[in-house]
Amino acid sequence: MLAGLQNVTFEFGARAIVEEATWHIQPGERIGLIGYNGTGKSTLLKLLVGEYQPSAGTVERSRTTSVGYLHQDLLSFDTNDSILQVALSAFEKILQLEKEIEILGIELEKTGDEKTLHEYSDKLHELETLGGYNIHHQTEEVLQGLGFANADLNRPYKEFSGGWRMRVLLAKMILQQPDLLLMDEPTNHLDLPSIEWLEKYLLHYQGSVVIVSHDKYFLNRMVTKIVEVYQQQLHIYNGNYDYYEKEKAIRVEMQQKAYENQQDYIRQNERLVERFRAKASKAAMAQSIMKKLDKLERIEDAEIERPNIRINFRVDKTPGKVLVELNNVSKAFGDNVIIENSSIEIDRGDKIALIGANGKGKSTLLRIIAGVESFSVGERKWGHNVEESFYAQHQLEALNVNNTILDEMKECGSQMNELELRGLLGCFLFSGDDSDKKIKILSGGEKARVALAKVIVSKANFLMLDEPTNHLDMHSCDLLIDALTKYEGSIILVSHDRYFVSKTANKIWEIVDHEIKEFKGGYEEWVAWKERMAKQEADRKKAESGAGSRESGGKNQKSGKSNDSTKAVEQAKSAPVVAKPVVNMAIDKDAKKELQKVQKQFQQLEEQIAKLNATKTELEASLIDPGVYSDRAKFIEAEKALKKVADELAGLNTDYEKVFERMMELENK
Ligand SMILES: Nc1ncnc2c1ncn2[C@@H]1O[C@H](COP(=O)(O)OP(=O)(O)OP(=O)(O)O)[C@@H](O)[C@H]1O
Ligand SMILES: [Mg+2]
Repeated sequence: MLAGLQNVTFEFGARAIVEEATWHIQPGERIGLIGYNGTGKSTLLKLLVGEYQPSAGTVERSRTTSVGYLHQDLLSFDTNDSILQVALSAFEKILQLEKEIEILGIELEKTGDEKTLHEYSDKLHELETLGGYNIHHQTEEVLQGLGFANADLNRPYKEFSGGWRMRVLLAKMILQQPDLLLMDEPTNHLDLPSIEWLEKYLLHYQGSVVIVSHDKYFLNRMVTKIVEVYQQQLHIYNGNYDYYEKEKAIRVEMQQKAYENQQDYIRQNERLVERFRAKASKAAMAQSIMKKLDKLERIEDAEIERPNIRINFRVDKTPGKVLVELNNVSKAFGDNVIIENSSIEIDRGDKIALIGANGKGKSTLLRIIAGVESFSVGERKWGHNVEESFYAQHQLEALNVNNTILDEMKECGSQMNELELRGLLGCFLFSGDDSDKKIKILSGGEKARVALAKVIVSKANFLMLDEPTNHLDMHSCDLLIDALTKYEGSIILVSHDRYFVSKTANKIWEIVDHEIKEFKGGYEEWVAWKERMAKQEADRKKAESGAGSRESGGKNQKSGKSNDSTKAVEQAKSAPVVAKPVVNMAIDKDAKKELQKVQKQFQQLEEQIAKLNATKTELEASLIDPGVYSDRAKFIEAEKALKKVADELAGLNTDYEKVFERMMELENK
């Protein structure tokens, strides 16, 4: 066993989170830790890493087990170091060794004594065995896989938004390769390509993984065991999420039957007690029945309905027909162009989902619309009577952690008095004293509920929501969908959750080639349309390469044929590990050309590597040559040369793998 809980009880004040819970994590297991918001999932992870101590029972962990822990709260770590440095800190031991080698090198140059020389060469050897020459490439590769551009790697961690910070921490943890990975809602801020990358990575992970998640698709693919926190107990299911759902229904039914039987039994006995108590001769019997009932271990009602949060967005005024207009707007961050000369409008009744990969500028566009982001060219026109409310990305981090829930609500400037606010909070399941809880102790989902309550208080007729489903459990997510469907105002939202988008949007926006493209229809229609377009494009290319050119008049054709393949290549370049062409490329001229190019590259790399390997062998041999070994200057020089060659080799090998992967991809088309 790697780690686990043995009869653990834990409570916050009077509130029990788990009672006598037992859970053993075995090597190689992939476990999904699930449960409604606020049931204690994050708390359990904190118990496992030793951040909290149980009030009874023991948390067990083998001394040799290394644990990596990804926090749900993104603000728990901050630094001025570059993201590369943060990720590199995964190799604490190697970095320390590098430092020692540097110091020894300086000393060696000064003194040149034999002992230092031995120590120096021992450490170099150790560095090599630990894979020390490869860590920079490895780190860069993982960061790129998670979507970072090379130019960003040296920017300070501080400058990045929450979602990107999380990726850095994720990269660090991945590089550490601990025996046990504990991840608290890792997909919250990730876009689809990054989630796919993470999935692929975790599926091949050698160690054990515990993932807290509310995403059933992700869980189904990732885990082979489910641990559910429910009614202060841990319930273990040996299967994926689908299995859990089926099995849970059976267990609930059984528990319910057992509960009802027990209730009948209790009622019968209680009636006996009532009858016997009055008669002196039977009083002792009544006593003994009562004792028996006291001792009875009570079965809980499985069907206790979980109280629903009641989200009901209200609208105060009706706005004009057009809510916002963007005219010829351009926006760039330095060289990074987000939109160029774009015009678009949002009309009354629109429910728009803005979709696409991270980094395309969805949040930026939302901020431009909200009027909180400046832009260089163009104009933004605000409609008549529009009252907006903006649920920004990382809204939870914008909550003041030292406020109580009630203070937080008071601060958002609504006309409601305290009593009304408490009533509203009740709809979000913060009853009675809960409203006086401080934000800092709330679970992720509870914070999300506070942030949503703030949106509701505004009675706005135009909602801008950036990733509103993050942290919400599936049940709350359904209730939000319900509320948004009934909402009479207009919405623009950003979400990576396909299910959520398909249930809420009547228009889809996408940023393509720095332009905002609007599709007038829901998500499913959009997907079908996309597929049709891709097919048409492929057919057109086929026809073109055969019987000359023939224009097809689709709206999307404007982007041009070369664009699609360049896009695929670009994507392969900027995110090699996630590399996946967006468009279905049939074997066409462009792909063939690329294949030839890649094959050539591959051959060249092979040759270069062979050459460098030969040099490396030579250098290694020279190090044990007494002529070199006894001459300090020569030895150091040879060592340096060897390090350089090893570094170069590591780089080439990484390229080699990438090119090979790409070649396979192209060949398999
Ligand atoms: N330090 C604390 N003091 C008092 N109560 C706390 C403290 N920390 C957490 N809680 C409460 O304990 C409960 C469990 O919190 P936890 O964060 O473990 O939930 P969770 O299952 O991770 O929920 P979510 O799905 O929303 O992330 C919550 O109701 C929370 O408000
Ligand atoms: Mg949590």
